[in-house]
Amino acid sequence: MWSSPSRLLPCLFGLAFAVGGLAVNESDPNFNSVRSKFVKNYSGTGPGDPPDEKYFQESSFHYHYDGRFAEEQLPENETLPHLSQLIRTYLSTMADMGAETWIMHGTLLAWWWNQKIFPWDNDIDVQISEPTIHFLDEYYNMTEHHFDIPGVEGGRTYLLEINPNYIYRTTGDRKNVIDARWIDTSSGLFIDITAVRTDDAMRKKGDSGALMCKDGHRFDENDIFPLRSSHFEDFPVKIPFEYTKLLQEEYSSKALTATNFQDHHFNEETLVWDPMSDSKRSLRRRDALDLPVRTTPLEHKFK
Ligand SMILES: *[C@@H]1O[C@H](CO)[C@@H](O)[C@H](O)[C@H]1NC(C)=O
Ligand SMILES: *[C@@H]1O[C@H](CO)[C@@H](O)[C@H](O)[C@H]1NC(C)=O
Ligand SMILES: *[C@@H]1O[C@H](CO)[C@@H](O)[C@H](O)[C@H]1NC(C)=O
Ligand SMILES: *[C@@H]1O[C@H](CO)[C@@H](O)[C@H](O)[C@H]1NC(C)=O
Repeated sequence: MWSSPSRLLPCLFGLAFAVGGLAVNESDPNFNSVRSKFVKNYSGTGPGDPPDEKYFQESSFHYHYDGRFAEEQLPENETLPHLSQLIRTYLSTMADMGAETWIMHGTLLAWWWNQKIFPWDNDIDVQISEPTIHFLDEYYNMTEHHFDIPGVEGGRTYLLEINPNYIYRTTGDRKNVIDARWIDTSSGLFIDITAVRTDDAMRKKGDSGALMCKDGHRFDENDIFPLRSSHFEDFPVKIPFEYTKLLQEEYSSKALTATNFQDHHFNEETLVWDPMSDSKRSLRRRDALDLPVRTTPLEHKFK
C-alpha cells in the first residue's frame, strides 16, 4: 500500500490522526442510522428519458462562478476568505438541519495535507446520500440563508439550489451530474453537491455495497461509511472512512507525498502551502476567529 518511501509519511499519518481527532467507532449511532436509510428503495432511473438541457449554468468568465451573482472573478486576496466561509456556512447549515454530508475529491485531498482549502483551487466538492437530496428538495430548494461574518459588513447570503434532474438516477444524464449547489450570492462562488446513490445494476449482480454518483464515480458503502469526524477550515467536517484508499485510487499515492504541487511547496513546519514564486505572498490565514453565525432560522430537520 505505502510503497513510496518518504520521510514525510510518519508525520502525515500522525497529522491526520492527531489533528483530525478521528472517531473510529462501529457502534456510532450515525453509522447505523445511515445504513438503514440506504436500505430505502430509490431505484429506477426516473420518469422517462433524461433531459437534453443542463440545469446549472456557470458564468462565461469562469466555470466556478454563477453568473447570476457576479460579473468577474474575485481579486486573488479575497478568494480564499470567501471559499472558507462558503464551506463553513454549508457545513454549519447541514449540521443544523441534521443532514449528513462529507467532503470528497480535491477537497478531501486538501484536507489530507493540512485541513485547509488548497490556495490555488476554487473548486469545493461535497457529497450527500440519496435520502438527503430528497429531503433538501422537499424543504429547501431555493432557500436563502443569511450569516453574520466577523469583518464582513452586512454578512453574506447563501442560496441552496436543487437540480430538478436529480431524480434521473443515471450516468446517461451527462449534463446534470451536479445534484445541488450552495451558492455565495455576494461573489457567485459555489460548492458542487453530488448525491451518492445505490448502484442498482451492480447490486443486481451481487455487489451488495455498490454506490454511484451521476458523474460516474463508483464507491463501496464500506469505503465511505461510517464517516469519520475531523475539521476542515477550522470547522467540524465528516470524511469518508477509507479516505487514504479513496485518495490513492483517485490521485495516486504520489499526491499524498509530493510536497511540490501547482507552483506551491508544502512547508512541513507551518503546514502551509507556500507559493514558489516570490511575487506571490502566502495568502493563508491561521486564525479561527471569524466563524460565521446563522441568522436565518431553519424550519425543518432531517429525521
Ligand atoms: C463506541 O461508542 C459507544 C457508544 O457511544 C461507546 O460505549 C464505546 O465505548 C465506544 N467504543 C470505542 C472503542 O470508542
Ligand atoms: C424498488 O422500486 C422499483 C421501482 O419502483 C421496483 O421495481 C423494485 O422491485 C423495488 N425494489 C425493492 C427491493 O423493493
Ligand atoms: C485585498 O486587497 C485590496 C487592495 O489591496 C484591499 O483593499 C483589501 O482589503 C484586501 N482584502 C483582504 C481580505 O485582505
Ligand atoms: C428548484 O427551484 C427552481 C426555481 O423555482 C426550479 O427551477 C427547480 O426545478 C427546483 N428544483 C427542484 C428539485 O424542484
